Amino acid sequence: MRAVEAIEPGGPEVLEIRELPDPVAGPGEVLMRVAATAVNRADVLQRMGFYPPPRGASAIIGLECSGTVAALGEGVTGWQVGDEVCALLAGGGYASYVVVPAGQLMPIPSGVGLVEAAALPEVACTVWSNVFMLAGLEAGERFLVHGGAGGIGTFAIQIASALGAEVYATAGSPEKLALCAQLGADVTINYRDEDFVAVLKERRGADVILDNMGAKYLSRNVDALATEGRLVIIGMQGGVKGELDIARLLGKRGSVHATSLRSRPTEDKALICADVVENVWPLVADGQVVPIIHAVLPLEQAAEAHRLIDSGEHTGKILLTL
Ligand SMILES: NC(=O)c1ccc[n+]([C@@H]2O[C@H](COP(=O)([O-])OP(=O)(O)OC[C@H]3O[C@@H](n4cnc5c(N)ncnc54)[C@H](OP(=O)(O)O)[C@@H]3O)[C@@H](O)[C@H]2O)c1
Repeated sequence: MRAVEAIEPGGPEVLEIRELPDPVAGPGEVLMRVAATAVNRADVLQRMGFYPPPRGASAIIGLECSGTVAALGEGVTGWQVGDEVCALLAGGGYASYVVVPAGQLMPIPSGVGLVEAAALPEVACTVWSNVFMLAGLEAGERFLVHGGAGGIGTFAIQIASALGAEVYATAGSPEKLALCAQLGADVTINYRDEDFVAVLKERRGADVILDNMGAKYLSRNVDALATEGRLVIIGMQGGVKGELDIARLLGKRGSVHATSLRSRPTEDKALICADVVENVWPLVADGQVVPIIHAVLPLEQAAEAHRLIDSGEHTGKILLTL
C-alpha cells in the first residue's frame, strides 16, 4: 500500500510517500480501503517526535478516515465488504489501507459524501464524549468553546447550538469570528483583544468550557466558570503546567477534567462511537451539523497540509485523499 511516513522527527518536509505491505485484519478487526483521511494537531506533534503512538497502534500518522470495508477479521459481524464507513483510529490513517477495531467503525451519516466523511470521526467523538457524555451540557446552559473556528470548534458550536445551549466562542480574527457566528455562536470573542472572562462574568459564567489551551488559560477558565461549572481541557496549545486556585474552584463547586481520546481503550472508543452514531449522526443527517472543510489535498501533499495547519490560517478540517 501507499503510506506517508515521517522519515525522522522534524518539519513537514520529513513526510514522505512509501510503499509498505498491506496490513491484515486480525480477530475483531476490519480492513478498510481508505478514501480520505484528515489532518489533526496531534499528527503534527507525532511528526515532530513529541507524540508517539499508543502501544499496539500503527506507527503511521492519521487518527481518522473514511472509505470502504475491504475485508473482515474473524468474528466481525454487522459489516460487509463494500460498506462505506468512517472510522476513529489510534493511527494509520495516512495510507491506502488501515486496520480498525470493528467497534471504531461508523456508518457514514446520510447526506455526507465518502470523502467529506473523513472530517467527522475525530471531532464528533471528541466533542460528544467531552461536552455531552462527560460534562453533561444541557439545553439552556452556557457553553464556551475556545478556538471556535478550528476543527473541534466548528463542530462544537454547531452541535451545542443544535441541542439548545447558549454558545460562546473565541477566535483570533474577524473572519473567524464571523464563521463562528454563522455556525450558531450566540456571542463571539476575539481572544487577541477581548477578555473572555469579563464577557462570561457579565452572564454569571460558563456552565461548560471546552479548552484547547491548557496551562495558559487554566486560571482564567476557572474564573469564567459558573457555579457548578465544568471545565474540560483537551489541548495543550498554551503549555502543560499551570496553577490551579483550589479555593476558587471549590467556592464554585466546579470541576476540571482533562482527557485524551487516542489513548483510551478500544472498548471505550467503541462506546463513544456507538453514542455518536445514535445521538450525533441524526443531527448531521438533517443538516443541523455539517462538516466544515478548509481544503482537500491528495495524500502526496501531506507536507503541504501540515504546513497549512502549522500556519493556523485554516478554518475547520483539512482532508487528504487517496
Ligand atoms: N484530547 C483529545 O482527545 C483531543 C482530540 C482532538 C483534538 N484535541 C486538541 O484540541 C485542540 C483543537 O483541535 P483542532 O483539531 O480544532 O485544531 P485546529 O483546527 O488547528 O484549531 C486550533 C485552534 O486553536 C485556536 N487558538 C490558537 N490560539 C488561541 C488562543 N490564544 N485562544 C483561543 N484559541 C486559540 C485557533 O484559533 P484561531 O484560528 O482563531 O487563531 C484554532 O481555532 C488541539 O489542541 C488538539 O490537539 C484533543
